[in-house]
Amino acid sequence: MSPLIAPSILAADFANLQKEVEMLNSSQADFIHVDIMDGAFVPNISFGIPVTQAIKKHAKKPLDVHLMIVEPDRYLEAFRDAGADIISIHYEACPHLHRSLQAIKALGAKAGVAINPHTPIDLLKEVIQDIDLVCMMSVNPGFGGQKFIENTYDKISRLKELILSKGAETKIEIDGGVNIQNAPKLVTAGADVLVAGSFVFNSPRPIETIKELKSIYTV
Ligand code: DX5
Ligand code: ZN
Repeated sequence: MSPLIAPSILAADFANLQKEVEMLNSSQADFIHVDIMDGAFVPNISFGIPVTQAIKKHAKKPLDVHLMIVEPDRYLEAFRDAGADIISIHYEACPHLHRSLQAIKALGAKAGVAINPHTPIDLLKEVIQDIDLVCMMSVNPGFGGQKFIENTYDKISRLKELILSKGAETKIEIDGGVNIQNAPKLVTAGADVLVAGSFVFNSPRPIETIKELKSIYTV
């Protein structure tokens, strides 16, 4: 099986967003990963609702919106209206995670939970059946271009076990520092979706780079 590829628009040229989105449309990318940072949950600010709408206007692929924000419940509807197809909220930002997941689904979007590198898999045990996608952070969220954290491989295996033991259909997405060196091992460990920001957008031939990631194959 090949992984789903979700290039992160955070690493794109923001002055040429339409061109960048069109490049992704013509590539083998499965989703467009949209990183929303609020300067409170993470120590960086990216962009918000109007830019997400602008991306949606040109996108022919589903938007995979990763909310790195405090109190995400306040903005779920706005991001859904802006065009989010998948909405991931952070475990660490949600005191009522089950309720927040139901709220995302009630809006008609797929519900994702992002977990920081230090957050144990076991904390998802009671809600795994309610989660469409776990966005496992393989860097500390806040910036593109950081170094991949090696503990991620073990964590993927443990999450895969949990998903199988509960008969859930949750997809595993890996976010941060993904490149062609670590991607095959991530897919072998059980990753279904690979986010790649700088590896795709810093490439001289991004469409080819996406194709290369997409052509990873495991049985
Ligand atoms: C990090 C973001 C990631 C990031 C990935 O906070 O959630 O999606 O854009 O970028 P790379 O692939 O450059 O690590
Ligand atoms: Zn992300």
